[in-house]
Amino acid sequence: MAIMSTLLISLLILSFSSSSTSLSSNYYAKTCPNVESLVRKAVRDAATSDKKVPAALLRMHFHDCFIRGCDASVLLDSKGNNKAEKDGPPNVSLHAFYVIDDAKKAVESACPGIVSCADVLALAARDSVVLSGGPSWDVPKGRKDGRTSLASETIQLPFPTFNISQLQQSFAKRGLSLEDLVALSGGHTLGFSHCSSFKNRIHNFNSKTGVDPSISPSFAAGLKKICPVNSAKNAGVPMDPSSTSFDNKYYKLIFQQKALFSSDKALLDMTKTKNLAANFASSKDAFTKAFIKSMIKMSSITGGQEVRKNCRVVN
Ligand code: HEM
Ligand SMILES: *[C@@H]1O[C@H](CO)[C@@H](O)[C@H](O)[C@H]1NC(C)=O
Ligand SMILES: *[C@@H]1O[C@H](CO)[C@@H](O)[C@H](O)[C@H]1NC(C)=O
Repeated sequence: MAIMSTLLISLLILSFSSSSTSLSSNYYAKTCPNVESLVRKAVRDAATSDKKVPAALLRMHFHDCFIRGCDASVLLDSKGNNKAEKDGPPNVSLHAFYVIDDAKKAVESACPGIVSCADVLALAARDSVVLSGGPSWDVPKGRKDGRTSLASETIQLPFPTFNISQLQQSFAKRGLSLEDLVALSGGHTLGFSHCSSFKNRIHNFNSKTGVDPSISPSFAAGLKKICPVNSAKNAGVPMDPSSTSFDNKYYKLIFQQKALFSSDKALLDMTKTKNLAANFASSKDAFTKAFIKSMIKMSSITGGQEVRKNCRVVN
């Protein structure tokens, strides 16, 4: 009887501790010591032939973490009747999934069945920042991969039309603060935006004016030229003029009324977020420190259960 109840208690403790994932920097030190260099090589190789890769991987990680936690749900392919996240409405911006496949393949041949796809993606996002001239940091590891990915859940992502209170709410739901919101929005120093993401600001803004009055007129004129009412589906602009280099220019631009999205401009609509943005605009170092802290926080939202063999399908 005593043995039985001890066994039962041990089992209970075991199942409880395995469902709450705890992350650590040296998680794979014994089981897959080369994981970091294998992922870094795959990301570096891909970025060498395609400069758009780092931005894609940073955004992919953000999308992953905001839906069901960082559980690689964003990597699953649609199957049968199930339409996956990557085929949901904001999919136009997600690309370069092949880089994660390559990294995972390399990791699987070195240490099969050990490293989760969610960890591979978190490492790839950090490596993307480093490759773009940004800071490096230790990525906590030990995430598990989820078994569910639903296109219908992508509406839980923040929209580029969001105002500051909607952004605050979206981040707070994930345990992220206003400081995290301002620091992580700095990810928009990298990459490309399609016209569809900001056309609300340059055509039929409201009943009084066609163009958002908070956009610099010369900047708005340039955007309208590239993005007329019926612009091509793939038309768009770089997120900032130095869109392959990770810097704090994004914050300078929003103060020059050259923010691309309403959600970028919205950071100036609340005293607290405006002060943070001003601090990041004037100090690259302050931005860098805050970005690292918030990336670690965002990438530590966990959610999965297994270590997927192939990032595109559940085991
Ligand atoms: C605050 C809420 C956010 C909103 C509303 C938002 C919205 C968007 C939109 C609409 C695009 C352009 C998609 C397109 O037209 O192709 C974009 C691109 C991008 N976002 Fe965000 N985003 C947010 C936060 C973040 C965060 C937290 C990160 C990462 C730390 C991030 C990183 C990126 C990157 C790197 C791109 C460029 C992607 C590429 O070039 O492939 N964003 N975002
Ligand atoms: C993106 O999502 C839309 C709407 O759900 C879908 O019709 C389209 O096929 C998807 N595109 C890609 C490239 O996956
Ligand atoms: C933001 O938008 C929501 C929904 O449209 C609205 O209820 C709220 O009042 C707006 N907040 C601000 C600060 O504009």
